[in-house]
Amino acid sequence: MILITGATGFIGRHLVARLVAQGERPRCLVRDVRQAATVLPADKVELVQGATTQPVTLVKAVNGIETIVHAAFMTADRKQSVGNHYEETNVGGTSNLILAAKAAGVKRIVEISGLGTKPDKPGSYMQGRYLAEKMLIESGLDWTIIRPSVLFGKGAPFIKGLVDLIQTAPVVPLIGGGKILFQPIAVDDVVTVILKVLADPARTNSKIFTIGGPEYYSFSQVFDVLLKATHKSRPKVYAPTPLVGIGAAVMEAILPKPPLTSAAMTLFSFNNTTDLDSVERDFGFKPQSFKTALETQGV
Ligand SMILES: NC(=O)c1ccc[n+]([C@@H]2O[C@H](COP(=O)([O-])OP(=O)(O)OC[C@H]3O[C@@H](n4cnc5c(N)ncnc54)[C@H](OP(=O)(O)O)[C@@H]3O)[C@@H](O)[C@H]2O)c1
Repeated sequence: MILITGATGFIGRHLVARLVAQGERPRCLVRDVRQAATVLPADKVELVQGATTQPVTLVKAVNGIETIVHAAFMTADRKQSVGNHYEETNVGGTSNLILAAKAAGVKRIVEISGLGTKPDKPGSYMQGRYLAEKMLIESGLDWTIIRPSVLFGKGAPFIKGLVDLIQTAPVVPLIGGGKILFQPIAVDDVVTVILKVLADPARTNSKIFTIGGPEYYSFSQVFDVLLKATHKSRPKVYAPTPLVGIGAAVMEAILPKPPLTSAAMTLFSFNNTTDLDSVERDFGFKPQSFKTALETQGV
């Protein structure tokens, strides 16, 4: 029996759909059952109300579970709000889940983390993500960590944010000159990797898999692909990183859903890449090309 946290999220929804398609009935931890039933096939899964930040709700969620796929994180593109803090959700929530899992005799947790996770300043977004991995590694449970690069596919937050910008802004900002590299990977391919990890604990336990698509794109080239796919043309404007950082902080202070947050700026401080053959080498299949997928399927 599998429990999925973050089942209503971007990766979670795609994972649930594939598990259901292969005849499974996963249990999904959801914060709002009614809302979850609008995005998940409610008759084909078990919905359990709860939150990782509320330990008492986890007791029922983990009961009888063998493996947890943990994808309930507050990602950097989200603005913090009451009940949704990076630290509280990513560190506290993961700690609560591990404790509940151990108490209930859960065997294994597969954590969906992010490429580039590393120690950082105490209290920072990145440090929280690092601690969420570290706690699992030191938990005594069987574990696997998957660290994908940015994702594309239906509903992908990173791509949607950039497309919204193209649709609404007269120019597109090349943060830091647009040179930072990305390695977009299709959500379907990430789900295939998760399913392969679930199917083969002997080979994948106690491992961190960093995965990305088959090509590198600079931020400027990501815009080129999206401009072509949306049939738009926009001047690209150099946007110095410190200036964009200030802009992000201001937008975060005044907008409920800012297009950019200060935490998301970390994405622009390093190349979001790994080996080009990471998926083929570790999982035996070729992931989709970002450019080809957008040319054939649109945004
Ligand atoms: N999307 C990407 O491009 C990408 C790239 C690399 C890595 N990742 C990683 O993949 C993981 C999943 O990302 P995602 O894009 O699927 O995120 P997402 O769409 O923002 O989904 C987050 C999920 O977590 C749930 N959640 C948040 N706080 C919770 C809590 N306290 N208790 C229970 N559930 C809670 C949300 O539930 P509600 O519906 O109630 O809000 C939602 O289902 C994250 O670790 C992310 O960093 C994502």
